[in-house]
Amino acid sequence: MDFAAEMKRHVARVERGLDLHLPPAGTRPARLHTAMRYSLEAGGKRLRPVLVLATAERFGVRDDSALPAAVAIECLHTYSLIHDDLPCMDNDDLRRGRPTAHKQFDEATALLAGDALLTHAFGLMAESYAASPALAHALIRELADAAGSRRLIGGQMEDLLAEKKADASPEELEFIHLNKTAAMIEAALVMGGLAGGATDKNLATLRRAGRHLGLAFQIIDDILDATADTATLGKTAGKDAKADKTTFVKLHGLEKSRALAANHTTQTLTALRELPGDNTFLTALVESMAQRVN
Ligand code: IPE
Ligand code: IPE
Ligand code: MG
Ligand code: MG
Ligand code: MG
Repeated sequence: MDFAAEMKRHVARVERGLDLHLPPAGTRPARLHTAMRYSLEAGGKRLRPVLVLATAERFGVRDDSALPAAVAIECLHTYSLIHDDLPCMDNDDLRRGRPTAHKQFDEATALLAGDALLTHAFGLMAESYAASPALAHALIRELADAAGSRRLIGGQMEDLLAEKKADASPEELEFIHLNKTAAMIEAALVMGGLAGGATDKNLATLRRAGRHLGLAFQIIDDILDATADTATLGKTAGKDAKADKTTFVKLHGLEKSRALAANHTTQTLTALRELPGDNTFLTALVESMAQRVN
C-alpha cells in the first residue's frame, strides 16, 4: 500500500464532498456563506473525515455513502475551531495558515458561521441518510453525543475553567483532553463503522481505539504548541504557556508527555488489531498521526 497516495485519495474525496455539500458562497446572506467556506476551505489536515471514510472502507463501503457523515464531522470540527479562536475563548489570530474567522470578518460573523456549520452538520446527515433511517439515527446520535455538553463543549468549558489554575489535577486534564478532543476522534471511527455496518462488538473496539487515538492527538497538540513554530503549525505557537493553560506539557513536562502519547498510540494499534480484516491503511494513518509536525 502506498500510504501517501491513499491519504491523498481520501483527502481529495473530503474536499470534493465539502464543496458538494455546503451551500454555495453566494447563497444569501453571502457574507455568512462566504465565512463558512472561508474557514472550511482553508485546509486543515482533514483527519476526522478521513478517519470516517477509511473506517467505512475498511468495513466494506465501496461507494460515497459515508461521505456526508465525513463532511458533517469536518463541519462540526471547523465550527469548534472558529469558536475556540474567538476573543472570549483562546483569542487567536491565525488558523490553518490564515487570519481566524473573526479577524477576517468580524466577531458576530464568526460566531454565526460557527453556529451555521454546527447546524448544517446535523441537517446534512438527516437529509443524506433519509432513506436509511436507522443509520441516520445512529450517526446523528453519535455526533450529538460527541459534540454535546458532556463531551466537546464540556471539555472546552473545563479547559477555560482550568486556565491559570495552579492546582489543576491530572484527572481534570484527562477530562479536558478526553472530551474537548478525543470525543470527536472517537466519533469519527465509530461513524465510519456505523456507515460500514460494523457489529456492536467492533463498534466498541473502534470506540476504544478512538479514545486512545484522541488522547494521543491532544497530547501531541500540546507538545507542538510548546515546541513547533507558527509557520509550520499554521496557528500561533506558544499560546498555551502564554494563556497559562492546563496542558500535558505544563503538568507532566515534555519528556513524559511524549511517553504518554506513545503509550496511547500503542493502545490504539492494539485495539485495531482486535478487529477482523485488513487494517493496513488505518494502522499507517495512526502511525503518521503520532509523527505529525502540525
Ligand atoms: C485542532 O485540530 C484542534 C484540536 C482538537 C487539537 P486539528 O489539528 O485536527 O486541526 P486542523 O483540522 O488540521 O486544522
Ligand atoms: C481545541 O483545543 C479543541 C477544540 C477546538 C474543541 P486547543 O485550543 O488546544 O486547539 P488549538 O491548539 O487552538 O487548535
Ligand atoms: Mg482551546
Ligand atoms: Mg485554541
Ligand atoms: Mg492546542
